[in-house]
Amino acid sequence: MKIMVIGGGGREHAIIKKLKENPAAQEIYALPGNGGIAADATCVDIGAKDLDGIVRFAKETGIDYAVVAPDDPLVLGCVDRLEEIGVPCFGPRKNAAIIEGSKVFSKDLMKKYGIPTAAYEVFTSAEAALAYLETAPMPTVVKADGLALGKGVTVAMTREEARGAVREIMEDRKFGASGERIVIEEYLEGPEVSVLSFTDGTTLIPMISSMDHKRAGDGDTGPNTGGMGTVAPNPYYTEETAKECMERIFLPTIRAMKAEGREFRGCLYFGLMITRDGPKVIEYNCRFGDPETQVVLPLLESDLLTVMQAVTAGKLAECEVKFREAHACCVVLASAGYPGSYGKGYEITIPESVRPNVYVAGAALKDGKTVTSGGRVLGVTAVEKTLPEAVKSAYALAEQVTFENRYYRKDIGARALKALN
Ligand code: AMP
Ligand code: GLY
Repeated sequence: MKIMVIGGGGREHAIIKKLKENPAAQEIYALPGNGGIAADATCVDIGAKDLDGIVRFAKETGIDYAVVAPDDPLVLGCVDRLEEIGVPCFGPRKNAAIIEGSKVFSKDLMKKYGIPTAAYEVFTSAEAALAYLETAPMPTVVKADGLALGKGVTVAMTREEARGAVREIMEDRKFGASGERIVIEEYLEGPEVSVLSFTDGTTLIPMISSMDHKRAGDGDTGPNTGGMGTVAPNPYYTEETAKECMERIFLPTIRAMKAEGREFRGCLYFGLMITRDGPKVIEYNCRFGDPETQVVLPLLESDLLTVMQAVTAGKLAECEVKFREAHACCVVLASAGYPGSYGKGYEITIPESVRPNVYVAGAALKDGKTVTSGGRVLGVTAVEKTLPEAVKSAYALAEQVTFENRYYRKDIGARALKALN
């Protein structure tokens, strides 16, 4: 079977490694992949947003199945385009990917169907938004409507900060057309939990919960990043909370999407906050999270390709999805300076014994060597019986992967460990 995975980060590397456990996944192509993924798949130099190039390649190569992993191609309609030429896909169509592609859409959906989330207002002009901020309670949260490389959200402690965010999004157009509308919403407090799920639009099976570490520095300080590490499961996600989420959030969401004529098939990601009034939705993503996938998939006991194909066929109800009774920790190794400016082109050394645990995000091949090419370079995941062991192992393995200017947080899992005790 010829499989194509769209994307080129640590998440895609984790998906590819898991798919390869099935002998039917003989040929895997990554578009564009990266210098580390090249060890596990054939990388093809076609960008994830180049839908014409992707369709042409699928036709020429005779691709049997496609996994569209990143938000951009999903929101642009990559799945629709591939289905037109008869390639079955894992991932939502354009009309369902909007659940991530537009914050206004997702907030309105939650309001209409009574799904718990922060109270909000939508604005189409900076003037109206700034007027509203004069009397809005602080802190508040300002969000660009469209995709913004994960940087479209500002949690503003002061009125001045909130005004600054509005101006950047709507006047300076920092995120282009994604800033034509903004959402200003109520500030929520509580631990955050990420829950990825498999859904075929009717059946939804949650994956094991996880915890991201978004800030660059230890103790959750410094600027926001794409994620510096993860642990799974998330200790704040109790059985009782899981039950409540299923009844009040997960199932109502897929039913709402179906009722709107936007059936969602693929991985639906729930960014949740466990508030004093119960769990609330912070955001939906129409895809696997990064670096959540690097701890969730290593704990998946069932065969990923089988589950994905059941999702595509609308037969998830007939499929068993099992997770190991274990804990995983992923430590991201970045280039010092990230998320600001950083150097590139440093050779990466990975001992053979550590390779199975490594998910490469930002590397290139140069003269037969693997060199750094991104801010987040790779993630190292360990799976163990307990969380303390998983954290310890992940750091022991991460220490063995070296490159110049290597930087990583020293406290991945610390908050989860504290919650456990
Ligand atoms: P994002 O960039 O969408 O991944 O999320 C940015 C982060 O902003 C989230 O992980 C939360 O920590 C925070 N956030 C988003 N919405 C709210 C809210 N309503 N209240 C408090 N924090 C929020
Ligand atoms: N880790 C959060 C995301 O993938 O958006």
